[in-house]
Amino acid sequence: MTDIKVTSENETMAFAQQLAIGMQPSTVLALVGDLGAGKTHFVKGLTRGLGSDAAVSSPTFTLVHEYGGGSCPLYHFDFYRVDQLEEIVAIGWEEYLDEAGIIVVEWADRFPDLMPEETQWWQIEILGEDKRRIVKVDRCPDNATTI
Ligand SMILES: Nc1ncnc2c1ncn2[C@@H]1O[C@H](COP(=O)(O)OP(=O)(O)OP(=O)(O)O)[C@@H](O)[C@H]1O
Ligand SMILES: [Mg+2]
Repeated sequence: MTDIKVTSENETMAFAQQLAIGMQPSTVLALVGDLGAGKTHFVKGLTRGLGSDAAVSSPTFTLVHEYGGGSCPLYHFDFYRVDQLEEIVAIGWEEYLDEAGIIVVEWADRFPDLMPEETQWWQIEILGEDKRRIVKVDRCPDNATTI
């Protein structure tokens, strides 16, 4: 079971960095949490864990950012500003899932039906100014169980 508390953005990044080490290139991660929870920092940690020092920022107009320079590519999606599921399908969502790269989606709970069965769901809860709870859950967090 993974249910931890962190007290700084560096700790969030360090946690994700460890997680990424040795991760299968086909892994899909869904990040769920309020605005400012630390999802983008989590992605930054994953990227560092793959050995890439790419500049990480939330994709807005393009929907997806690709970071190279690590052991495999990382595709960073953010569903926050997406209105229609079709927009994600239209940019080749299924093809991305077939790539030998890691896929990470911020705000995946907006379109949970798009996420494949094997998705790793991560919930980040804001507990205080710098304090966060990071929990691995078995599905999109409405009635999920910690795993
Ligand atoms: N423990 C922590 N982990 C991550 N970020 C933290 C932590 N404590 C404070 N912060 C701050 O919270 C903010 C998190 O920003 P970040 O962009 O990563 O959040 P986000 O979940 O991606 O937000 P959004 O939903 O807007 O995309 C940053 O300003 C960061 O400095
Ligand atoms: Mg973000």
